[in-house]
Amino acid sequence: MYERLRERLGRVLPDFEIRRKAEIAEEILRLKAERNAVILAHNYMEPALFYSVPDHQGDSLDLSRKAAQTDADVIVFCGVRFMAETAKILNPSKTVLIPSPRAGCSLAESITAEQVRDLRARFPGVPVVSYVNTYADVKAESDICCTSSNAAAVVESLHAPTVIFLPDQYLAMNVARETGRHIIFPSKTPVSGADGLLDVQIIGWTGRCEVHERFTVADVENARRQFPDVVVLAHPECSPEVVAAADFSGSTNAMIRYVAEHPAPRYLVLTECAMGDNIAAAHPDRELVRMCSIRCPHMNEITMEDTRDALNYLRYEVDVPEPTRSRARRAVERMLAIG
Ligand code: 13P
Ligand code: SF4
Repeated sequence: MYERLRERLGRVLPDFEIRRKAEIAEEILRLKAERNAVILAHNYMEPALFYSVPDHQGDSLDLSRKAAQTDADVIVFCGVRFMAETAKILNPSKTVLIPSPRAGCSLAESITAEQVRDLRARFPGVPVVSYVNTYADVKAESDICCTSSNAAAVVESLHAPTVIFLPDQYLAMNVARETGRHIIFPSKTPVSGADGLLDVQIIGWTGRCEVHERFTVADVENARRQFPDVVVLAHPECSPEVVAAADFSGSTNAMIRYVAEHPAPRYLVLTECAMGDNIAAAHPDRELVRMCSIRCPHMNEITMEDTRDALNYLRYEVDVPEPTRSRARRAVERMLAIG
């Protein structure tokens, strides 16, 4: 394991860290076999974890698909809570573990099931699309889920004149632009009477990713001034202005693929910094210009030590009670059917 990690990560991690992490990885692999477990890891996991123990790495959509297909007894989800919940929604009889109970998400926190019910009452008959970055009770109130890799396709699949798109304000604005739709953000509490729809085609919500909202157009301009050949990639949770200033926008998988398929000397990747490390490790000939002062505190809760302990002590178990689970499953499966 040490040799394998050193070959892959020698440029991005100090040798003592590689040695230490290789030892922990060996323990994790032993426990994984003992427990008949599968490890699913989001693209934001730190490089040593990302390149050592997962059975599958990927973006939210990819990992939902993998979770739906596994025949392991235990699923360890190296990602944040809403992702582990999605795995449980799809696998009620399996034990789903998350290595840290503190791995939340500002988007998932930004809306409650009651607020979704309120929107439905205000806009009767309008279908609700929920970003997968929501908790199970919000998914249960939704018609269909989406991720950053299929948001526009999901909206268009509904063939509805108007859709409610929750809870990411910026993703909704980026989808509105991509699909040529007009968007509004209704007040959180209705003022009086019914909200007039006029020609509105997307009704959004003002949730934000606390990480991606911090990237600015000035960051893009500064990078371009310093490195005129830099290729800028932005996650669609960034503001529409940042996305417009970038060369490409897509899900974490789409950004990884873009680097692989479009060789350039350097890239600025506007997303969680660990993903820049993971891309740099896979492409030793490219430079990744990183803004590592901007981190996702939730994704960074997931460590190799906690992953080992999750398998050792079978903690922290994620549960989604009925009937919430079955109702949420409908929305997730409708999304998976679209692809
Ligand atoms: P992806 O689905 O693109 O991996 O995004 C998940 C996420 O939480 C981004 O912040
Ligand atoms: Fe949530 Fe943003 Fe962290 Fe992704 S990066 S898990 S959207 S807080």
